[in-house]
Amino acid sequence: MPHSPAAWWRTASIYQIYVRSFADGNGDGIGDVAGIRERLPYLRDLGVDALWLTPWYVSPMADAGYDVADYRDIDPIFGTLAEAEALIGEAHENGLRLIVDLVPNHCSDRHPWFREALAAAPGSAARERFWFVPGRGEHGELPPNDWQSYFGGPAWTRVTEADGSPGPWYLHMFAPQQPDLNWEHPQVREEFEDILRFWLDRGVDGFRIDVAHGLTKKPGLPDVGPDPDPADLPYQDTDGVHAIYRSWRAIIDAYEGERVFVGEVWLPTPSQFARYLRPDELHSAFNFEFLCCAWEPGPIREVIEQTLAAHAPVGAPPTWVLSNHDTIRHVTRYGRQETGFDMGNKRHGAPTDLDLGLRRARAAALLTLALPGGVYVYQGDELGLAEVEDIPDDLLQDPTWERSGHTDRGRDGCRVPLPWNGEHPPFGFSPPDAATEPWLPQPLAWKDTTVEAQTGEPSSMLSLYRAALVLRRTDLTRLPETVSWLDAGPGTVAFVRGDGFACVVNFSEAPIELPAHHGVLLASGPVVDGLLPSDTCVWLRLTPGGTDDL
Ligand code: NOJ
Ligand code: CA
Repeated sequence: MPHSPAAWWRTASIYQIYVRSFADGNGDGIGDVAGIRERLPYLRDLGVDALWLTPWYVSPMADAGYDVADYRDIDPIFGTLAEAEALIGEAHENGLRLIVDLVPNHCSDRHPWFREALAAAPGSAARERFWFVPGRGEHGELPPNDWQSYFGGPAWTRVTEADGSPGPWYLHMFAPQQPDLNWEHPQVREEFEDILRFWLDRGVDGFRIDVAHGLTKKPGLPDVGPDPDPADLPYQDTDGVHAIYRSWRAIIDAYEGERVFVGEVWLPTPSQFARYLRPDELHSAFNFEFLCCAWEPGPIREVIEQTLAAHAPVGAPPTWVLSNHDTIRHVTRYGRQETGFDMGNKRHGAPTDLDLGLRRARAAALLTLALPGGVYVYQGDELGLAEVEDIPDDLLQDPTWERSGHTDRGRDGCRVPLPWNGEHPPFGFSPPDAATEPWLPQPLAWKDTTVEAQTGEPSSMLSLYRAALVLRRTDLTRLPETVSWLDAGPGTVAFVRGDGFACVVNFSEAPIELPAHHGVLLASGPVVDGLLPSDTCVWLRLTPGGTDDL
């Protein structure tokens, strides 16, 4: 079925719930399904259209649930399958669609298939669902190739056979507890098609696909070599991956209700990226170019233009994302000297001006919500949370910390449990009588950023998000998917959509004058006497002639 022009997901605002940090219903310090169910009215009132939940499946939690041991059940930490089904129904009753996370590149080393593979004799069929490969060197003591895990260290771990002898190596592009599945194997394909149907039958509205560019590997698993072309790595974006998404698309299209795929596609070139969004593949994908872009007018405008240009030929809607559970929160990024984001160099602890970061984050919120396409809000963005950079070393949980030899503090700083209300931790994250503290410590200063503290406070980030999401839904989603650029002076990014809506961002240090013929719909900072302050974004309703002086 071709991409339909009026489908909900073309303009959706999707809220990312990092399940273990959203709300804890049973008081064990870990977020869960019960907590989400209690907070559905909050999400409904925020004005988002859909929720994306990070993995809630049975998992030993070696990578916070991205190591799945049973794709058809909920981990007891998070609740039960019955609770998950109830949540799907209740989300729908609240007008919210629900997208679950699918992790097809790898499973857990506790998944029955991997246990069976380890227990099976060398060379047996049970091992063919994974990548078990003899090592190099005289005695097979060296990894089969030079691939490095995204979490640091070699992407291979050597097996010890039942009789104690050293065996082949298995591939894990992430932690050793996350063996990569062999997508050349028909059983792997059948299994995931069945998993898709399992959740579609339970009413989910779609899937976020983890590492969507990585499922298939280049035949022969060749070395990367000393100076690899980032656009031609043997473990990502190999041609075979597209056939998988075509078969999945046929499955999802057979269900009622416009259910969708959103791919986690990290690739260096827009043309590679766009191939995933052809009409018979994925509906949408995260725009990481935008997330990584520095807060500077030239690069921001360029990345917006490139995004629109890459999506248009395949008819897919662009998406906009500022933060997620893997990145440094953008309030912190934008408060630094170097405002871009690089997954390989997170610059933990760089000097940060959080007031500046917050002001820019407010402007960025309005910018993203004004652009055509879909937008993702990571939990806590709407509260203006900054990265928590002072988690004590011994409390860090992300495998990146250990695997990098304590050089990369990992992703815990953006995963700290949300502050809901009250003056002290757990700030309503857990029930008042909870015996256990939140799984990561919350900063005491968060007492001023709780949902309770920000509700009804006109100048709060939460009020800004609520107002913007409402206006976006009532007015902006009806506008054409194109933008016309305006020249609002150096240091600005400004565009018009339709015949009367304009968005202007001032990146320069001095205020700029707004056009005379306009009404301010919403601004991320004070607009006084027609002057737009530095690092501020405004939404304007232009009256005839309003663009003349821009
Ligand atoms: C991407 C996910 O967003 C991240 O959290 C996870 O560690 C890796 N994929 C591996 O599943
Ligand atoms: Ca809990």
